[in-house]
Amino acid sequence: MKITYSLVFALLTSALLLNQCASSQTISKNKDVLTRERINLNEGWRFMKYSNAPDHLIYDVRPEITDRNDNKAADTKPTEAVSAGSSTGSLKVYILPTANEFINDPTKHHIRPDGSPGKDFPIVQSTFNDAAWQFLDLPHDWAITGPFMTGPNPEVGGGMGRLPSNGVAWYRKKISVGKTDLDKKIYLDMDGAMSYAMVWINGNLAGGWPYGYNSFRIDLTPYIKEGHDNQLAIRLDNPNHSARWYPGAGIYRNVWLTKTNAVHVSQWGTFITSKAISKNSATLDLKISITNNSKTSSSITTLTHIYELDHKGNKTGEAVATLKSSTSVTSESRLITQSTAVIQHPKLWGPPPTQQPNLYIAVTTLLQNNKAIDTYETPFGIRDVQFNPDQGILVNGERIQVKGVNQHHDLGGLGAAFNVRAAERQLEMLRDMGCNAIRMSHNPPAPELLELTDRMGFLVVDEIFDSWERKKTPHDFHLIFPDWSEPDARAFIRRDRNHPSVIIWSFGNEVGEQYTGAEGAAVAQRLHNIVKEEDPTRPTTAAMNFAKPDMALPKVLDLISLNYQGEGIRQAPEFEGTDRIRTPPQYYAFHKQFPTKVILSSETASAFSSRGVYLFPVSKEISAPVRDGRGGDSKNHQVSAYELHAVDFGSSAEKVFASIEKNPFVAGEFVWTGWDHLGEPTPYYDARSAYCGIIDLAGFKKDRFYLYQSHWRPDFAMAHILPHWNWPDRVGEVTPVHVFTSGDEAELFLNGKSLGKKKKEKYQYRLRWDDVVYEPGELKVVAYKNEKVWAEDHVVTAGEPTKLSATADRTTISSDGYDLSFVTISIHDENGNEVPIANNLVNFQLEGSGEIIATDNGDATNMTFFSSSSRNAFNGKVLAIIKAKKGAIGKIVVKASSEGLKTAEVEINCKK
Ligand code: GAL
Repeated sequence: MKITYSLVFALLTSALLLNQCASSQTISKNKDVLTRERINLNEGWRFMKYSNAPDHLIYDVRPEITDRNDNKAADTKPTEAVSAGSSTGSLKVYILPTANEFINDPTKHHIRPDGSPGKDFPIVQSTFNDAAWQFLDLPHDWAITGPFMTGPNPEVGGGMGRLPSNGVAWYRKKISVGKTDLDKKIYLDMDGAMSYAMVWINGNLAGGWPYGYNSFRIDLTPYIKEGHDNQLAIRLDNPNHSARWYPGAGIYRNVWLTKTNAVHVSQWGTFITSKAISKNSATLDLKISITNNSKTSSSITTLTHIYELDHKGNKTGEAVATLKSSTSVTSESRLITQSTAVIQHPKLWGPPPTQQPNLYIAVTTLLQNNKAIDTYETPFGIRDVQFNPDQGILVNGERIQVKGVNQHHDLGGLGAAFNVRAAERQLEMLRDMGCNAIRMSHNPPAPELLELTDRMGFLVVDEIFDSWERKKTPHDFHLIFPDWSEPDARAFIRRDRNHPSVIIWSFGNEVGEQYTGAEGAAVAQRLHNIVKEEDPTRPTTAAMNFAKPDMALPKVLDLISLNYQGEGIRQAPEFEGTDRIRTPPQYYAFHKQFPTKVILSSETASAFSSRGVYLFPVSKEISAPVRDGRGGDSKNHQVSAYELHAVDFGSSAEKVFASIEKNPFVAGEFVWTGWDHLGEPTPYYDARSAYCGIIDLAGFKKDRFYLYQSHWRPDFAMAHILPHWNWPDRVGEVTPVHVFTSGDEAELFLNGKSLGKKKKEKYQYRLRWDDVVYEPGELKVVAYKNEKVWAEDHVVTAGEPTKLSATADRTTISSDGYDLSFVTISIHDENGNEVPIANNLVNFQLEGSGEIIATDNGDATNMTFFSSSSRNAFNGKVLAIIKAKKGAIGKIVVKASSEGLKTAEVEINCKK
């Protein structure tokens, strides 16, 4: 039988095509539509945010905020929910039916009341004139352009990043529907909208989804008419005090229009698992969920061909296996079919550098009377992951030490608006450091991020909730947990379960239910059961910073995730008598209590530093909380980059390395965090962004990067000296010099004179020369491994700034409307040495068809708005993020100037 595959099915693998062109985050080809169409809807929206007094089309009444203080320590005990009172007149009852597809018990399905609230509201009418509204393309984050809210008692505080993410806004767009589409199902697929999305189409409230991090589908079919002016109007209502970090705001991910026949593969309707995996063969099991929205029952044959994907994401060769099933689906129902096949000599997916992230794609066709009525593509990987309580995690039989980081969803100056290239850049730098795993703290990521982790071979802990019934902030997820925890959890798993990179499901982070014994454990049990129903193949977990081995919560979890407890919390004598969490090291206690469960450190460190800031005196300890005179500067809100200090409940990188080495059964760690994130600027809430990243918000490496690289990539020859050597006020003063190296010993030279050779002891990860007396000149280190020269590094005292340099991470980019070039400007003296203390104001100008999307310098205290084209350097560096105008070809010239300094420029070529 010959089957014609529609071109548009390639859309489903959009991110697999990303490596052809790193940024093609949307694909909108739309020809030859026989069975299914997926059209990108990112372009051409109108947007309006109320400055005050929004309309009353509310999802539900929220509790009043009585405590506006948002600078609570992250490990503050979550508290009981507060009742909001009456919700009469709210639209919740019309929105809840959107969840039905993800509520397993049909008796709990929501029935939509009669009527269509808001139908007379002008903004939802197609005749409404929105010409004065802002015209924009998605993804869009309305808050990221600021301005930052500075000063005392800001409306949005440091915790949520001081940016105007709060408020109510509308997005409008007309969509076109042809006559032949009138018998189709027409869905709006939104990858993420922050938050409380409610969707009107042609004046009818079609549905919505409150949780801003999940992807969701709205069925537009009943309200669609033929023609070009089907009016979409989407209302978002993003609450203040809803997060402990910057949540972003708006339709910040891709939006799609999906058209299918009445009988079709359900939303996220395939699930491929593999078993009996060896070099010779693997058995694939495929479940396909089929939705029949027609008036009659339908006999369906499913035919699925499996193809290999090459490293560019293209199908290669002939099908390597075929799976088939037949079934009959009754009218207005959903049914799951199963089929199986053996694949010979499978190319396994596994993490580099020892393994390759090989991928396959399953192309499923639904046939009715031998006619193709739907085709659906599922990229996947074949890998065997074993969880061994004594050895940790084994991928395809090889123990993989988890060298992971936590990542929040924002992309620095781009905000929450998802951008594939920006995310890829983050992962590339993390990989260079030796990182092999990402914990998606604490929410479902953009789908394309998981496509990147699949393709690049990162292991992923996919996480969904930061709170359950008990609250951390007055307007966080706890408000909707009773109604939405099941649908959100099921939607999350169904969307992500075919990604080979996802190896663990985490359904909670430091939730308040750790404190409530059996009652809290019952909530965990319910969530665990939901996850297992959706995917029995991966372990469940929830991260614990409080619950101990003898408590109820950990019993429920397949895998033990400890935040900070492994190393011990607040063990220093200064914390004696504290009413905060104080815990001795817990790895062994959990291992003993749960000898069959793997232990993973889901959050470690939370070490702090400001890139290029070195404060004196330098602590003798290897790990200490930040205080003035001990790594901290509460006046300037900066933390020393000697990399010895952590949050009160945390530990330095080195303390964590040692404790994990001493407990080899621990599968590894996820550092808090890989990159700085917006909001949560512990310990200085006057700032805008965090201090805990290994890489700063602009993407510049802190010294800590090299500490992790030295430990995580022992075979990579490297040495790194700190601090910089520009201390005009410290001549004659003791100025400690520390070295991170993957070697085992090193000799330090100051102006050619040896300051001695030092060797690492066991459980020692840095070499320190604490008595160096500063004199300007050159510091050089020669590192050795097994007594042979291994690597060198040097720093010199730079003179006055005289010139700028400009370097682009990529000098050819696509003008697809998404691709980016990241341009770094450094400040140099006349000899070309970078001046590490230069903070000159740099102005950017562009020639050609491009635009500056954002600038940043990585300084957590910098309140210049991100879209500004001039910004002070921070310790020698500043960044500009450049995008080509859509469709442009030719050159963009990025020029950087600064008063009194020689300008610099870099050329970027744009291609279609
Ligand atoms: C943890 C929390 C993280 C973050 C971190 C900061 O307690 O899980 O979300 O707040 O502390 O150190």
